[in-house]
Amino acid sequence: MGMVSDKLMDFLNNGGFDLGYDEWELPKLDDMDAVLENSVHVWDYKGLTEEQISAIQKRGYFLVKLAQQANVKNIVEVGTAQGYQFYTFGKYFKDLESTGIVYSCDLRDVRNERMNSLFLKECFYVNGNSEKLSNSISSKTKIDMFFIDGAHQKGDVLSDIENLKHLQSDNCIWVFDDYDERFGIYEELKLLEEKHPNTSVVNQAHKKAKYSNNMLIVWGKM
Ligand SMILES: C[S@@+](CC[C@H](N)C(=O)[O-])C[C@H]1O[C@@H](n2cnc3c(N)ncnc32)[C@H](O)[C@@H]1O
Repeated sequence: MGMVSDKLMDFLNNGGFDLGYDEWELPKLDDMDAVLENSVHVWDYKGLTEEQISAIQKRGYFLVKLAQQANVKNIVEVGTAQGYQFYTFGKYFKDLESTGIVYSCDLRDVRNERMNSLFLKECFYVNGNSEKLSNSISSKTKIDMFFIDGAHQKGDVLSDIENLKHLQSDNCIWVFDDYDERFGIYEELKLLEEKHPNTSVVNQAHKKAKYSNNMLIVWGKM
């Protein structure tokens, strides 16, 4: 049992109708203002089906709600890609007029340029891995939420944790994407789930999807 409400968990598990968001009524993907307005929309994911996109969109919204419920002030993400989750968090902080920052890193910079220019204060990007990111964040900064979504080979998640854990706040939340057998990080995530007393697993895949797409949430410090 975690610290997230059942309603929110159902949202990710069951298709998103509960929170007044209908996954089948999506704004057009090239409509950037709709992307920002909804905090849950995606760009540059060409070639994905509506079903796949709806799963990604739900995750953005879900994690923002999670951050909101836990009163999260600073976030670290590993694996920025185009910045879907990065800028969704950035928009969340900007709307709150909070001083919160989302720190993110990737080995390749493929961020959406327009979004980048909109969230200069809220979104801090480092080109490199989690070690380089952690070296760029003051050790006095405390991070309330970690979203680990970078390298997926065996041992990669453990390295990310090792590199970042000195930044943990007392009541932090760790979220690990892609907790599925097909990824090299599966076994280490399973051990984390077994070891920690307070965890949640949510399947964010669409009901019709071929594979499950689980996310592991660990409540509290590593
Ligand atoms: C699944 S994508 C991230 C998606 C993104 N978090 C989002 O929500 O839109 C994984 C990203 O991790 C990056 N990556 C791979 N190895 C990495 C590493 N060691 N450190 C940081 N990023 C890495 C890849 O380049 C890729 O862009």
